Amino acid sequence: MDKLLVNPFKFGDPVEGDYYLPRPDLANAVLQFLQNRIHVVLIGPRRFGKTSFALNLLKKFEKESYLCLFVDIYNITSHRDFLQQMLRALRTLKGWKGKIKDFLKSIPTLRPKFSADFDLDTGAPSFGLSFDQASDKDVKELIQDVLAGIENLGEKIIVVIDEFQKVTEIEDKGWLEATLRTHMQQLRNTSFLFTGSRRSIIYDMLNNPDRPLYRSCQPIEFPSFGEEFTDWVLDKFTTIDIKCERSAVQHLRTLVQDTPNYVQMVCFHLVARGKSHITEKEVDHALGTVVRQNAYAYQTLLTSLTPTQQRALRLAGREGKQIFSKELLQKYEISSGPALASAIKSLKDKGILDDESSGRGTVIFDDPLFAVWFQISFEN
Ligand SMILES: Nc1ncnc2c1ncn2[C@@H]1O[C@H](COP(=O)(O)OP(=O)(O)OP(=O)(O)O)[C@@H](O)[C@H]1O
Ligand SMILES: [Mg+2]
Repeated sequence: MDKLLVNPFKFGDPVEGDYYLPRPDLANAVLQFLQNRIHVVLIGPRRFGKTSFALNLLKKFEKESYLCLFVDIYNITSHRDFLQQMLRALRTLKGWKGKIKDFLKSIPTLRPKFSADFDLDTGAPSFGLSFDQASDKDVKELIQDVLAGIENLGEKIIVVIDEFQKVTEIEDKGWLEATLRTHMQQLRNTSFLFTGSRRSIIYDMLNNPDRPLYRSCQPIEFPSFGEEFTDWVLDKFTTIDIKCERSAVQHLRTLVQDTPNYVQMVCFHLVARGKSHITEKEVDHALGTVVRQNAYAYQTLLTSLTPTQQRALRLAGREGKQIFSKELLQKYEISSGPALASAIKSLKDKGILDDESSGRGTVIFDDPLFAVWFQISFEN
């Protein structure tokens, strides 16, 4: 391919290789814990690179002949979904067909339900459909059996559960949380790595003595990149002969709250548009375009909110700081401080504003581009 056609930036999906800037300090810290069978929860904002990090870490573990399971539960709504995702993770294990065959054979509850669509002799996999009719009791039993069976998959095992706060959204009176806890303790050869973005939910899971996962894991905050990320971005531009100012990258990082996904996204657009010299002004322009492309989604989200919530968001997006000041309440037509506080609380519950938004009148958007949209819309 023509060199110029290869865009060195990539966004959206998890990244690896040339598109991934390693995080060696974080990797070493997590590695140490997991090797010593201390389960870890990585807590970080959305689109910060948690999944990419976990997948890259698993490669290191695989080199040390660990068996690694990656379970993505972002979209689960039920125990059945959770089970599906566990089975999917097993299915994608490379080179472990034989083991999986034995594994499935070792689960008596699973076998009859899979016989229809999983050939135990050839290992030709097609899980899933046959337990659609299974009762919730069966599904719970299967989850327990599959978790218990993990132990037999290998000598040293790592299980990653991505977006793990989702287990709390299933209304089962904490059954799944408790089941995970039991197996985290019982599986002597298995370490768990959880990732999640809803900070307050996760800290409650870990710090509330009434909950099953109380003090069961080491929490680690997913850090922002340092200056090395700016260097890395500048290097990428250099490889395709684009001159980019350091200040432009720094400016971009600030605008998108240092979210790697959006840094890469805006850089991708700058490259695609064939800019040869990138300054802060180019960054503003590209970011504006990206945000306007999302306008429909933002507008739709906005109309699903109450008028006070809408005004609160507009205030937060445009001002960001000291949002409880009298002048701002007046300017944005919000009746009182408590009315604003209650709107902010609903917006946090909806996941639109970050849990981190502190009492000191500073707000952080879950999606920094949404905040930028407020800044460039509603101008006179
Ligand atoms: N280490 C990294 N180096 C460079 N870019 C990165 C890195 N990590 C993440 N990114 C950027 O962020 C994007 C999203 O990464 P990833 O899906 O791993 O994040 P996430 O935190 O799991 O997101 P989500 O909250 O949507 O699950 C990638 O496509 C890439 O553009
Ligand atoms: Mg992810």
